[in-house]
Amino acid sequence: MRILVCGGAGYIGSHTCAVLAARGHDLLVADNFVNSSPRALERLRRLTGAPICFQLTDLRVRAEVDALFEGQRFDAVVHFAALKAVGESCERPLDYFDNNISGTIHLLQAMQAAGVERLVFSSSATVYGDPDSVPVREDAALRITNPYGRTKLVMEQLIGDLCASDPSFHAANLRYFNPVGAHPSGLIGEDPGGEPNNLMPYVSQVAVGRRERLRIFGGDWPTVDGTGVRDYIHVMDLARAHADAIDYLVREGRGLTVNLGTGRGVSVLELVRAFAKASGREIPYEVVARRAGDVAEVYADPSLAHELLGWRAELGVDAMCRDAWRWQSMNPDGYGRVGIEQAGIS
Ligand code: NAD
Ligand code: WQD
Repeated sequence: MRILVCGGAGYIGSHTCAVLAARGHDLLVADNFVNSSPRALERLRRLTGAPICFQLTDLRVRAEVDALFEGQRFDAVVHFAALKAVGESCERPLDYFDNNISGTIHLLQAMQAAGVERLVFSSSATVYGDPDSVPVREDAALRITNPYGRTKLVMEQLIGDLCASDPSFHAANLRYFNPVGAHPSGLIGEDPGGEPNNLMPYVSQVAVGRRERLRIFGGDWPTVDGTGVRDYIHVMDLARAHADAIDYLVREGRGLTVNLGTGRGVSVLELVRAFAKASGREIPYEVVARRAGDVAEVYADPSLAHELLGWRAELGVDAMCRDAWRWQSMNPDGYGRVGIEQAGIS
């Protein structure tokens, strides 16, 4: 199939491109590199041996989105392109509404005009906010705790309204829990700009010597060891679910909304210990005050994804840490800052 991947140069997008290319799909990546590097595409081409086309596109610009569909047909679109930093979204909510929501509207408009009827959308466990109970099922109450989360919920709703208005349009809303890890080659991985917001990249940067110590946000949560518990999922398992979701849309001719997690909660301290073992490095840390907006424990009930997609996470925390460490140690400074021409992307 020919597939348009919006945000395909980013962390989850690049890993998904690797899986889609390995399954023989023909890809066009659209990205503006607001939070990614052209080098990820160069690495992807090397890794897959596939041509992987690229078009520099800002989804906020309707004409640029329309141009993606000119003279070519896609069987499906996978939409990763969004800003995703929770704290930043509280400081600059309008930028998040503009980028994430306007960008998605432009994409939906252009898809409809071109008659492209299959969408796989990156949603998030953030739509559950602080859930009443765990594991979280898809029918749990939806609650917003920050502007980023609001954009994810609004985008799910916009997509739902479009599906209701047009029975031939089908969407897969994939609610990711906490994606971590990297491709086993070590060639692509997560490369946050500036100080990482998320636990795994922070731990990796401490292990590689880029940061002195981890600050653990709260040691007094009502959890197994007092630190926050999350459902970390290997990015390669997550990537595979996108390919399975496209197959589902084609096969079933209807949409779905599913959680993507392992179903297993892991505490901050458990993850730190697993990373120290995988890397052979000490991870110095101190326990500090809780981070505003954090919750004690969130993990998925992933059984619906298994029922509908036949998908199940296969890789555990040790593999997540092993692969995150391989990427970090092979690329201590991430991709480095390079322009499109320098990376040889056209
Ligand atoms: P990422 O920032 O690495 O990737 C997003 C990509 O989209 C980047 O390459 C960025 O340059 C691009 N992009 C953003 N705005 C754009 C625009 N206006 N036009 C064109 N390209 C644009 O993030 P990621 O971790 O790979 O996340 C991918 C998706 O998954 C996002 O939608 C995110 O909200 C969602 N998600 C991520 C997580 C997570 O923890 N990483 C969890 C749940 C959901
Ligand atoms: C995990 C645990 C922290 C950093 C966020 C977004 C969510 C989703 C995924 C996109 C928590 C603790 C972290 C650190 C720490 N993104 N921690 N020290 O908060 O579950 O989810 O990313 O949709 O929307 O909110 O992930 O990795 O930030 O935190 O102690 O330096 O690690 O308190 O318990 P979170 P995280």
